[in-house]
Amino acid sequence: MKSLIVILTLLYACVVKAQEYEFPEDFQFGVATASYQIEGAWDHGGKGENIWDRMTHERSYLIEDGSNGDHACLSYYKTEEDVQLLKDLGVHFYRFSISWSRILPTGHANKINQEGIDYYNDLIDRLIAAEITPFITMFHWDLPQPLQEIGGWPNALLADIFVDYADVLYKVFGDRVKDWITFNEPAQICEQGYATADKAPAYTQEGIGGYLCAHTLLIAHGKAYRLYYQDYHEEQQGRVGITIDTGMYMPADEESPDDEEAAERTIQMYYGWHAHPIFSADGDYPQIMKDRVLAKSLEEGFPKSRLPSFTDAEIAMIRGSSDFLGLNHYTSSYCTTIPDEWVLQRPSNYADIEAWCYASPDWETSGSSWLTVYPEGLRKLLIWIKERYNNPEIIITENGFSDKDGSLNDCRRVNYFNSYLEQVLLAIHVDKVNVTRYTAWSLMDNFEWRRGYTERFGIHHVDFDDDERPRTAKMSAYVLKNIILTKKINWDYTPGGFSECDWDNWGTEEPEEEINEV
Ligand SMILES: *[C@@H]1O[C@H](CO)[C@@H](O)[C@H](O)[C@H]1NC(C)=O
Repeated sequence: MKSLIVILTLLYACVVKAQEYEFPEDFQFGVATASYQIEGAWDHGGKGENIWDRMTHERSYLIEDGSNGDHACLSYYKTEEDVQLLKDLGVHFYRFSISWSRILPTGHANKINQEGIDYYNDLIDRLIAAEITPFITMFHWDLPQPLQEIGGWPNALLADIFVDYADVLYKVFGDRVKDWITFNEPAQICEQGYATADKAPAYTQEGIGGYLCAHTLLIAHGKAYRLYYQDYHEEQQGRVGITIDTGMYMPADEESPDDEEAAERTIQMYYGWHAHPIFSADGDYPQIMKDRVLAKSLEEGFPKSRLPSFTDAEIAMIRGSSDFLGLNHYTSSYCTTIPDEWVLQRPSNYADIEAWCYASPDWETSGSSWLTVYPEGLRKLLIWIKERYNNPEIIITENGFSDKDGSLNDCRRVNYFNSYLEQVLLAIHVDKVNVTRYTAWSLMDNFEWRRGYTERFGIHHVDFDDDERPRTAKMSAYVLKNIILTKKINWDYTPGGFSECDWDNWGTEEPEEEINEV
């Protein structure tokens, strides 16, 4: 009881403190989207087919509601309207992605589609006219289908093909675009795309496909970064980074060294897998990952590790190849050593890690089975990154909350933003973590990958039953706008026209799953 009082007092002190803190003067706020999730016009304007077009058309059973992004939010036709939403929010930047197949319909740089370039030029110019910085993701999962036909990312030659694409982007947009992200979430692209089948192209080469894919991606990223500094930086003066997603992984029992190791192993082999080669002082994959995958591979009868190795030149080329660390973060989990009977008897990243991670049943749930609310995890993660990777500049490139009802009075989303942003304030002011930008996911409800239109992350509601796809601001949009304007979090703020949130009792949805597998 006594310790509970102490904890509550501390918690109260933290909350009160955080409410007093402000975001630094030059701190920037933005919102994010991704091309396939919002653009629609899948076969218009000269665009080529990508792997999400192909998968949703030929294997619609993989999508929860059988839907696709053929029309999505029709953003391809609504540049003016979408930029107006951004102006109304008062954001400093807009993070969006470029559809590779819209620029290069074959995936290769032999044929450049001027209509695609015109579309993004118009968007970029309107943003700049509105004093909103365009922040571009080059690859947010929609690989041109012809490149999948030659193996997709596990084919090491895709690295150079990606660099050709990056070269085109720097050349045509780099006069006005100064903030580039090469890849969004390597783990999702690779592990889910080529090993666990949760993202296109939905292959199931467990223990192999993900590792080959990530290896290509890291080389592609490094080369695209080096190209910018070799040919464009002097003239364009921009920055190039990468966005890597992770939850915070914490020991289930803080007193247990085994659990401590399980948590550290998980974050190293999920997040460090992609972050360590770029942001650590030594470069290359984390040692623990190299050791474990090699040992497992030999046990399994492979002649060498399933994890490919970099040459020394590649390690040096990739190390330091990012001007900022882009972080996508939504949720956290507790980890413990996996019980013997649960160890998979086949090669997989999961078996290589050998840990069991789960969300606390006490945490609030969302519209997504994998997303539970633990704001303190973000602060812990920011500290973890600062300590491991020598205090880099961190840009939070995604953070957000889903529901299924799409309510405009979205108190649960407001709670999420308020409480996660409080942790960002504590990280900045107390822990001296260098966070310079925060990006809310997402500007609007959109095609949520394999969940189709069943899960909504938007701060604007989109009516997908209406051919015009009208957008309506939710309460969370006004709350974010107020935070941007005041640089403060105000829990009592209720925008006009919305009903007050009762912070003790705002949950409406039943928990779906209490335990999430990582
Ligand atoms: C944060 O990083 C930026 C970019 O590297 C740098 O200019 C700035 O001085 C850093 N701020 C702090 C507080 O370390």
